[in-house]
Amino acid sequence: MASEAAPLEPQTTEAEADRRDFILILTGAMAAGGAAAVAWPLIDQMEPASDVLAAGSPVTVDISKLSAGQQIVVLWRSNPIFVVRRTPQMLAELTKPSLLNRLRDPDSKVKQQPSYAQNWSRALKPEYLVLVGVCTHLGCVPGFQPAPGSVSPDWPGGWLCPCHGSKYDLAGRVFQSVPAPYNLPVPPYDYESDTQLVVGRNPPNETFAISDVVTI
Ligand code: FES
Repeated sequence: MASEAAPLEPQTTEAEADRRDFILILTGAMAAGGAAAVAWPLIDQMEPASDVLAAGSPVTVDISKLSAGQQIVVLWRSNPIFVVRRTPQMLAELTKPSLLNRLRDPDSKVKQQPSYAQNWSRALKPEYLVLVGVCTHLGCVPGFQPAPGSVSPDWPGGWLCPCHGSKYDLAGRVFQSVPAPYNLPVPPYDYESDTQLVVGRNPPNETFAISDVVTI
């Protein structure tokens, strides 16, 4: 990846400071069916050794407590990784022509994802979206804005970059007429089980590397 994430400011207690470089809770989350933002708790079991992180080794993420509509953010290869559990309503938005017509690359033709995520949901399982949370313009971290109408009257939910206003939908697809040229990348990932994601490891017989994505 040519772009680097902007400095992050995780909100942790003093006792949690030693692990704040790994788990970053950047945003609130939208409760299913509602608009209230709630804090997401730190996940205690995600504490790999520092040498594991430095090597960019796969990172296991427990998604068992991730509620519908929520996002968690973990760090992999020094980049924030967004993991979102999408609601049926969020998924229904992704194929609407009224949205597709506003996207720069609605079919994910540019190589910003592995082949197993080059589909309508940009995911192995539509319910869970995994993205590299680094704006493809100049590398800021987009903010999660899942509530329809929260950014503009026709906002379907997605991410808004705080630096120059690039917008992405709830599949990480970039809108037209913004500075960012490409969709948010999907990293290599797989499932260890129904409740455990592994970021940085492909499914069997897949060879995608994050360095394969197109950058400016
Ligand atoms: S870095 Fe995101 S819009 Fe410029």
